[in-house]
Amino acid sequence: MKLSIRDLLVQAPVIPVIQISDSRLAVPMAKALAKGGLTTLEIVLRTPESLDAIKNIRAEVEGVVVGAGTVLNAEHFSLAQAAGSEFIVTPGLTQSMLKTAAETETAILPGVATASELMLGLENGLDTFKFFPAETSGGAGALKALSGPFQHAQFCPTGGISLDNISNYLALDCVLTVGGSWLTPADLVQAQDWDAITTLAQRTCKQVAQLKSASNNP
Ligand code: 3PG
Repeated sequence: MKLSIRDLLVQAPVIPVIQISDSRLAVPMAKALAKGGLTTLEIVLRTPESLDAIKNIRAEVEGVVVGAGTVLNAEHFSLAQAAGSEFIVTPGLTQSMLKTAAETETAILPGVATASELMLGLENGLDTFKFFPAETSGGAGALKALSGPFQHAQFCPTGGISLDNISNYLALDCVLTVGGSWLTPADLVQAQDWDAITTLAQRTCKQVAQLKSASNNP
């Protein structure tokens, strides 16, 4: 059965966006994030190691859902599927990506930054989008305005988000979760300081839970 991207995003406090330079580090990194409460992970296809990283996580880490990001075309899409990706994230929305998505069971989270891109996605039966690049596209204020006419669209903003500005996005009704690379800082990964990554994930989950509880009890 097709995994619903909306269901996936609803239960993810945030989605770590991970660029892997050594696929051997993928498993301990995924375990560290999962231990900290983050079990939906996006591995971006920007390095030669990324597909092996996805395969390794699928084979060796229980309890996580792993997807591929930076999927730019049909070839990337099928390579990501073959590696075991459970969902696909694209930075933009193209006709060829829509065609590929329609032919597969794999859930897709396409990137949009304009009303026209959003309308194209909605016309093709999609209702859940990545707002990208979030901060440089105007941040939470821009997303609030963009989403106004599209009451059924929901978003995962990504790009320039951190613990310093996450509250601006989670305050919006149209935001299900956010994505970002801040959960796996290069220095901690290089030092293989998995405990520090777990602590960062825990801190993030705590902050998200507090924000969600505050917005449910204003
Ligand atoms: C990306 O695809 O680069 C993501 O949006 C991550 O952005 P960030 O590094 O600003 O979190």
